[in-house]
Amino acid sequence: MSKRFYLTTAIDYVNGEPHLGHAYEKVITDIIARTHRSLGQEVFYLTGLDEHGQKVQSAAKAEGKAPQVYCDEFAAIWETFAGRLNLTHADFVRTSSERHKAFVRAVLQKLYDNGHFYQAEYRGFYSARQETFLTEKDRREDGTFDPIYGDVTELVEHNYYFKLGEHQQWLIDHIEANPDFVQPETRRNEVLGFLKNNTLEDLCITRPKERLEWGIPLPFDEEYVTYVWFDALSNYASIPAALGDNAAAGPIGLDSRPDAPALWPADIHVIGKDILKFHAVYWPIMLKAMELPLPGQVLVHGWWQKDGQKMSKTTGNVVDPVAVIDEWGVDAFRYYVVRELDIGPDGNWTDESFQARYSAELANGLGNLVNRSLSMLNRYRGGTLEATSDELAADAEKWIAEARGNYESHQIQAALVSVWGLVDRANQYVEQTAPFKLAKQEDQADRLNEVLYNLAECCRILAVLIWPVIPETAEKIFEQVGIDGSPADFSLAKWGGLAKGHTCNKPTPLFPRKDLEKSKRLAKREAC
Ligand code: ME8
Ligand code: MG
Repeated sequence: MSKRFYLTTAIDYVNGEPHLGHAYEKVITDIIARTHRSLGQEVFYLTGLDEHGQKVQSAAKAEGKAPQVYCDEFAAIWETFAGRLNLTHADFVRTSSERHKAFVRAVLQKLYDNGHFYQAEYRGFYSARQETFLTEKDRREDGTFDPIYGDVTELVEHNYYFKLGEHQQWLIDHIEANPDFVQPETRRNEVLGFLKNNTLEDLCITRPKERLEWGIPLPFDEEYVTYVWFDALSNYASIPAALGDNAAAGPIGLDSRPDAPALWPADIHVIGKDILKFHAVYWPIMLKAMELPLPGQVLVHGWWQKDGQKMSKTTGNVVDPVAVIDEWGVDAFRYYVVRELDIGPDGNWTDESFQARYSAELANGLGNLVNRSLSMLNRYRGGTLEATSDELAADAEKWIAEARGNYESHQIQAALVSVWGLVDRANQYVEQTAPFKLAKQEDQADRLNEVLYNLAECCRILAVLIWPVIPETAEKIFEQVGIDGSPADFSLAKWGGLAKGHTCNKPTPLFPRKDLEKSKRLAKREAC
């Protein structure tokens, strides 16, 4: 079976409600997944949950629940959330599942057998909140640790370590030889800078059971569980292996199946900027030690703020994606986050800018175009196209080519700018040709037929172009244009798809206007 385009998101910590940052990452990954599908590839999109570790153990205990019960309850919320975002993930990984744990155990045993681990005494500082060890270097100038670490305790314990030193040089070489391996460029430079200016310290990969029980026990030493990051990163390969993909299962001695989807190596890991080191340093080294091929790319997005400030539950300064979707629809949410913010820089959510884009670009831009084009076709021609025309063909082909190039390079924001190039051109065409005037002139019947064809054809093409980003809207447009089948195929974005004699349906508003006052004014001005 030919290899699928395999892409992943970070797996979210289970112990909290999903927020804007989580939603954004899952949406951009979904858009890339849908883009590749639309371009004719078989795609496998994996997302899921990171469930082990101190924080979950403590939170479950505080609620008097077994950690597994606690995780199961939250997992239901997260899986529902994925549905609300209209994600097309093929699987949902949970690190507390047996299929994942079996893989991690096999990896640990293999790395242990091959001499990658050693045991040593650790003496130092530990942050339970961040589940990380700190050194003197982490102290601030006044000698204290940053409050993000919570209570820092000094401890002495034995642990297993993963030798990283021997991996430093090949990793630098790999990142230098493969400019796409970490993107965008600023993040690639950050990783290279880190690797060239520091000596990698060996990674502590265990926690003693007496301190942490909620984790995967080491197969070769029952006194320890696996460090959560080693456990969590493994998810990207554990699911392919569990599904029987030989490229993931074979090297660590697990069974594969001939009919399994060919997935590994991942084509893209989509992550946020705060977990870059784990994905661009530790994960490639883990894979090398496992003797698995490296992923194609780590694609790093920025962080959202709200109203120029860090989102925080305690101050109530948050965006609840579910509330936004309830009020405005999932497509408005998906559209805004990727139109507003490119993949890379940090972004800022304001309700004003959300509503401004909804109204200008979705309701008055795309929505109005489809609505008035199909309304006029129905009013003047009973919905039927009486002629064909290619007056807007060259304009359309130009925006299609540009959108395609941008989608192919995963520049979603730029792709939307291209698509709206066609939206604006078609709306301008309505003003220029004034079909509502042509309809009043008997000798302009042929001209009106041409104009109506150009508009309907633009609507059809736009549905195909927007499908990866706003699939519900794309499907509604197809329905309204009267096409059976799905807009999920980029090859349909080609002038001339509608035939003479084709009949379109009556439109219903794609993006209902929310502000009644304003909408009345606009309706008056734009009445056609
Ligand atoms: O880090 N804006 O989980 P997590 C944009 N379990 N993205 C944000 C964000 C914001 N304000 N806040 C968080 C973890 N994210 C680990 C990952 S992967 C093997 C293990 C992003 O729930 C963050 O950058 O803290 C990360 O990519 C994802 O949400 C999950 O964060
Ligand atoms: Mg986090």
